Amino acid sequence: MKRMLSGIKPTGQLTLGNYIGALKNFVAYQDDYEMIVFIANLHCITEYQEPKELSRNLTDAIALYLACGLDPVKSTIFLQTDVHAHAELGYIMACNTYLGELNRMTQFKDKSAKGEKNMTAGLYTYPCLMAADILLYDANYVPVGEDQKQHVELTRDLAQRMNNKYGEMFTVPEPLVAKVGARIMSLQDPSKKMSKSDETNKGCIYLLDDLKTVRKKIMSAVTDSFADIKLDKINQPGLYNLIEIASALTGRPMQEIADEFHGQGYGVLKGYVADVVCAEMEKIQNNYREIMDSHKIEEVLALGAKKASAIADTKLDLVKRKIGLEIIY
Ligand code: AMP
Ligand code: TRP
Repeated sequence: MKRMLSGIKPTGQLTLGNYIGALKNFVAYQDDYEMIVFIANLHCITEYQEPKELSRNLTDAIALYLACGLDPVKSTIFLQTDVHAHAELGYIMACNTYLGELNRMTQFKDKSAKGEKNMTAGLYTYPCLMAADILLYDANYVPVGEDQKQHVELTRDLAQRMNNKYGEMFTVPEPLVAKVGARIMSLQDPSKKMSKSDETNKGCIYLLDDLKTVRKKIMSAVTDSFADIKLDKINQPGLYNLIEIASALTGRPMQEIADEFHGQGYGVLKGYVADVVCAEMEKIQNNYREIMDSHKIEEVLALGAKKASAIADTKLDLVKRKIGLEIIY
C-alpha cells in the first residue's frame, strides 16, 4: 500500500478551506492508502501565538480531524512535537538547503514583500521542517492545497540532493492537489484565499461557526452585477467560488450546478450553497461535540505518537548513520 502524509498548521480555527482543500481528502484517501496525518504545532510558532489560544486550537484541530471522519485505527494521527525526530531531521534538512531556495518560497516572499516586521528565522526555515515531516515517513504522496505545492516540490529537490550526496535514504514524494477545491477563496474578496487570518471574519467560514452565521456569510458573499449564473472564473470569480464549494462537497460537476441555476437569481444559488455547507457542517459539529465530551483525544494521540515514532526514529537513525553523525565503536 502506498503511503500518504499531510499536516495542518492550526494557527487559528480550522476553516472550510482546510476542510475542502485538505481534511476531506485525507478521509477519502484513508481506505486506499496508508494515511499519516499530523498537527504541525511546531510550524504554528513560526509566528507568535497566544499560548492558551494555541493550545485550544490544537485540541480543536485534533477533535475536528476525528469529527471529519479520520479513523485512528486506519490512519496514524499525531501531534508533531510528540515525535522528536521532526525537529532533529528539520535541522539536518536546513543544513542541506540553500538560502537561494528559501528566498524563492512564495509564502516567505509574500510576507517580506508586505514589509512584515519581526519575521523569525523559524518562518524562513519552515520549508526545511516541512521536508523533514514528509521524508521521515517515506511518503509517496502528499495531499495539499495549491498553496503548499511549492513546499513539496522543494522537498523533492532536497530528497534527491541528499540521496545523491549520501546514498539512497529518502523516497521522493509527489504533491497531490485536488482538481476541485484546492483553492477556496474568501467570500468577501474572491481574489484572496479563504484564510484563518481573515481580517473581516466575514470572508472565512470556520468549521465551528454556528450554522446561522455560516448561512449569513454565504448569503452575503461578494458576487458581481452580471445577474447571470455562469461558470466564469475570470469575470465572475465570486460566483465561481461558491459553485466550487458546492461541487467539492456534493461531488457534482461544477458545470452541472451552474446549468441548474442558470436564469435564476444569485440568491437562489447562494441558498443552495448554504444548504449544502450547513448540512455537512452540522454532521461535523455533532461529531465534534461528542469527541470533546469523551477522552478519546488523549488515547488517539498516544497511539498515533507510538506508531509514528516507530517509523520516524528508524529513518532518523539511518540518516544520521549515512551522513556520518554517529560514532561507530
Ligand atoms: P494551513 O491552514 O495553512 O495549515 O493549511 C492546511 C491545508 O489546508 C493545506 O493543505 C492547505 O493547502 C489547505 N488549505 C488552506 N486554506 C485553503 C483554501 N482556502 N482552499 C483550499 N485549501 C486550503
Ligand atoms: N505547511 C503546511 C501548511 O501550512 C502544514 C504542513 C506542515 C504540512 N508539514 C507538512 C503539510 C507536511 C503537508 C506535509 O498548510
